Amino acid sequence: MSKVNSDRTHYCTELTKADVGEVVTVKGWASRCRNLGSLIFIDLRDRTGILQIVFDQSESPDFELAEKVHNEYVLAVTGKLRLRGKDGINPKMKTGEIEVFAQKLEILADADTPPFMIDDPDNVSETTRLKYRYLDLRGEGMTERLRLRSEIMHVTRDYFHKNGFWEIETPYLGKSTPEGARDYLVPSRIKNGSFYALPQSPQLYKQLLMIAGTDRYYQIARCFRDEDLRANRQPEFTQIDMEMSFVTQPQVMSTAYGLVREIYSKCAGIKLPVHIREMPYDEAMTRFGSDKPDTRFGLELTDISDLVGDCGFQVFERAVATKGSSVRMINAKGFVREGNAILSRRDIDGLGEFVKTIGGKGLAWISVKSGGELTSSFAKFMSEQSVKNILARAEAEAGDLLLFAADTDANVFKTLGALRLHLAERGKLIDRSKYDVLWIVDFPMFEYSEEEGRYVAQHHPFTMPHENDLEFLESDPARVRAAAYDLVINGEEAGGGSLRIHDRNLQKRIFKILGFSEDQIEERFGFFVNAFKYGAPPHGGLAFGLDRLVMTLAHTDNIKDVIAFPKVQNASDLMTQAPTPVDKKQTDELGLDLVDKV
Ligand code: AMO
Ligand code: AMP
Repeated sequence: MSKVNSDRTHYCTELTKADVGEVVTVKGWASRCRNLGSLIFIDLRDRTGILQIVFDQSESPDFELAEKVHNEYVLAVTGKLRLRGKDGINPKMKTGEIEVFAQKLEILADADTPPFMIDDPDNVSETTRLKYRYLDLRGEGMTERLRLRSEIMHVTRDYFHKNGFWEIETPYLGKSTPEGARDYLVPSRIKNGSFYALPQSPQLYKQLLMIAGTDRYYQIARCFRDEDLRANRQPEFTQIDMEMSFVTQPQVMSTAYGLVREIYSKCAGIKLPVHIREMPYDEAMTRFGSDKPDTRFGLELTDISDLVGDCGFQVFERAVATKGSSVRMINAKGFVREGNAILSRRDIDGLGEFVKTIGGKGLAWISVKSGGELTSSFAKFMSEQSVKNILARAEAEAGDLLLFAADTDANVFKTLGALRLHLAERGKLIDRSKYDVLWIVDFPMFEYSEEEGRYVAQHHPFTMPHENDLEFLESDPARVRAAAYDLVINGEEAGGGSLRIHDRNLQKRIFKILGFSEDQIEERFGFFVNAFKYGAPPHGGLAFGLDRLVMTLAHTDNIKDVIAFPKVQNASDLMTQAPTPVDKKQTDELGLDLVDKV
């Protein structure tokens, strides 16, 4: 795979014992220099890794020049490849048995002392790494992840090309899209007072491309969403976006999953199963408290609402009496087992604090001691029979910790879903070598928004309702399922999509349920809805979060690790300092008057 240029003969770690005796030229950065008087060792680094260079005072003509080299100098070195002496062998390095015996050295650039040791990334803060990102990217970890990402993109393009997809670019300067996050706006200079919205996804364009007859589209597209950042979220991120015409839901799903299998196989040698599970949304919520369940471990949720309606403990009774609320529990099996407890009494109180940070109201608990003796935050309020019933439902044994949440279903799922993940971390229950891939299907079509006092689309308003639920659209929107699907990998939403509505009348019905007036539809989506008058094929698609796919193969929970120049928590770029104020001349041209903000 060597693609070296000019007089460079090899990348550093392409050389092996088989090349011993050859005269080679390598180029890169001085990662480490050791001057032992008559011998100088320089670890030379390029994007493939590190190779040891030796200068010998009596035999290397450029020895004096080598004495001037410091860390991060850029060098070209020519010399004979030889085996290292027995004492010099480093089994941890790919090139640990060989070295270049230098004849010729050229210093291509000198370098100031870098703000951190590039090959020692653990001893530097993320802030410093991001400020000097170009240095951070020189390090082994980031280099490898950039390579992996590039390879994944390459395999993606191959896969789609092979399957008859066309790569088509869609505008960045456009109109607001329906993904539902806050838009990034770009003011127009020509039309003062008007704004482009950067796309939250190419959703509308790709559907228009289906109406245009392109049949199979894909794009590796940058998307922009002005939302709060998290470990797996960036304001600009990349989607592998696809759309297909004249297809059924299983066809879209198998084409999309086929890509993931190909990526895993070609980029990591991991063989994913041909067929994976499809789990209905309701099952995912009731068993795991999440629509992106990590099913590599148990700790499933159990509903006990039917046992505690009249139990004596008010918190539970109230939840049971309230529509749309429930009492559910997790049995943290063996978490308080005497002798090797994972959680102490104090840790249990800590769990209560933890659920409060994610919006839970509280966490009630029962700890089962050896001999069946109980300690509990609430059992004293409860009839003995109710406690017995709960223990039986939980299949509780000595050493188990039962954790309860009573609230609206949504909040119970949110609390226990997050608690479940937290417990798995504490108990080290996740086998990181496993890949857990499944589809979540049958999402609800609508969600009731208390804030807006109306139904909102859970995916987006162009999603096709489930065929069998069409009759309930007006009478009971909450029970209508959508022809939507998410691919979940190791508890992350790696991608999501849906079949789209191509029938104008059905689209009108949906808009009506969502409470859009004709004027609002015309103003927001007029151009789009209009296009459906002229013959729209049945179509559907999906988008993967490329960054998240790379994360799964790079074994990182931090999305910044897989992006060359990422943003930090407040959506700024620590290297360029963007966003920054601009000249008054520029804002004048854009017709913008800035209100002074302290
Ligand atoms: P959705 O909004 O689910 O669907 O986005 C698709 C995938 O993109 C990833 N993703 C993100 N990754 C990093 N940072 C973010 N801020 C971020 N937001 C989303 C997720 C997600 O699964 N147009 C539809 C797709 C379709 O229906 O075809 C869409 O954008 O991995
Ligand atoms: P209290 O009587 O308020 O001290 O609550 C007794 C126990 O119930 C404590 O452990 C609380 O954390 C817990 N608790 C309070 N509200 C809830 C709730 N909505 N769901 C679960 N447990 C709760």
